[in-house]
Amino acid sequence: MKFDVLIIGGGLAGLATAIKFDNAVTVALIIKKNFSTSSSHWAQGGVAGVLNKDDKLELHEQDTLVAGAGLCNKDAVKFVVENSEQSIQWLIDQGIEFTKTKDNQSLHLTKEGGHSLNRIAHVADFTGKAIQEKLIEQVSAKKNITVFENHTAVDLITNKKINQKNSTNKCLGAYILNNQTGQVISISAKKTVLASGGVSKAYLYTTNPPVSTGDGIAMAWRAGCEIKNMEFIQFHPTCLFHPMERSFLISETLRGEGGVLTLPNKEKFMHKYHPLADLAPRDIVARAIDNEMKQHGLEYVLLDITMLDADFIKKRFPNIYDHCYKLGIDITEEAIPVVPAAHYTCGGVTTDLDAKTTINGLYAVGETACTGLHGANRLASNSLLECLVFSSAAVEHISNCLNESNNEALPSWDESRVSNPDEAVMILQTWNELRRFMWNYVGIVRTNQRLKRAFDRIEILKDEIQHYYKNFIISPDLLELRNLLQVSELIILSALSRKESRGLHFSKDFPEKLDHAEDTVLRLD
Ligand code: SIN
Repeated sequence: MKFDVLIIGGGLAGLATAIKFDNAVTVALIIKKNFSTSSSHWAQGGVAGVLNKDDKLELHEQDTLVAGAGLCNKDAVKFVVENSEQSIQWLIDQGIEFTKTKDNQSLHLTKEGGHSLNRIAHVADFTGKAIQEKLIEQVSAKKNITVFENHTAVDLITNKKINQKNSTNKCLGAYILNNQTGQVISISAKKTVLASGGVSKAYLYTTNPPVSTGDGIAMAWRAGCEIKNMEFIQFHPTCLFHPMERSFLISETLRGEGGVLTLPNKEKFMHKYHPLADLAPRDIVARAIDNEMKQHGLEYVLLDITMLDADFIKKRFPNIYDHCYKLGIDITEEAIPVVPAAHYTCGGVTTDLDAKTTINGLYAVGETACTGLHGANRLASNSLLECLVFSSAAVEHISNCLNESNNEALPSWDESRVSNPDEAVMILQTWNELRRFMWNYVGIVRTNQRLKRAFDRIEILKDEIQHYYKNFIISPDLLELRNLLQVSELIILSALSRKESRGLHFSKDFPEKLDHAEDTVLRLD
């Protein structure tokens, strides 16, 4: 199959990129499960932007830089913040109905940790779902976009891989598995865009949907791309703690509206850790909770919003109210049990301001990319914004050079592999093992010894899975596990090479921050 552009991933980054192309550009959009299984769909908070007269571009930039702990790329920060207003306007133009102020005159702007003022546009507490649903309508209406739901990308095809050894590395398309038929097709594309989200499923506890298995980052690495800052995994401080529900986010906007964290005996603790107390940057809040839980032997802490008016809570947080109520927690009357959980990948595939990776013909947008916006810790609600700004940048750059590019003939997938009855149990066992030791050894607080232990395990598991990948018929589960092992290795290698604590990376062996901030850059050669 031949397309002008191949986009891998159906969250906000993928959908916005697909929609923004002119109707004359043919687009293949690969979605691993279905439209509603992306992290964007689950996003509650909102989209940060400079939207009113009290705010200034410099203030949003400054908050982003402070959260990023000295590691942000200042050009990327400026670029994103400068484009924030028009990005939010683009969403409004697509029909997204953001929550308005009481007088209905302007957008209701809320606050989250690290923001010096209210600047987050939101749709109650289901911003991501509201955006995704509208954009899915747009994608379905556009005849130039062919959607492949239930298809998993296997690997990128590059000219180096198909034996054009002496030429510059260039992405030519990808092998794509039809999850239902098991058939692998090769899609030839003049340009390929990775928009497949982050890696949080490498951890036992996460706020992300099951699809967050780092596919784009792993494929880019195998294709020879530069990867940056993978040690910076953001743990969201407040994931619901409940035996029936492991991945439900309790949005930071609850604290933005006045909610406070307490111990089970109702004692507040965040003031001991930061002057902004409950609205300190996320890394500080997550580590504070982790510390309190360890110190007091707790399974969870509490987030209390019962001081707010019950009607306000139900109107402002309908999704969280309903979800908790169904699980037996009335958040207007009782505090919510919460724990930190893996939430966002700040590092990823190195990209520039055009969303270009270090390989010709390959772009990355959204959580898959490392644009430098987030540095060592992402400021809340900057991620949907980043998807919007860099989808435009990618579309502009690709559109300007599409005429100079051709589709290349690609080799077919090797169909000679056989099935293996042991695969399911091996995948389940390896997946459980990986997620547990990533949580325990490569989590919120790290040590060299724990990281080395995790690295040794990864090398053994990677060999095992590679054997399955090479010899047996591939399945979506096997591909996800292969990718998770790859990105876990990249996280550990990056964490081991950082000899300091900065932002989201905290090492007991190197508790101080060095004077000079440097990216962790990984390259295959
Ligand atoms: C939240 O609503 O707390 C999450 C927002 C974000 O991760 O930016």
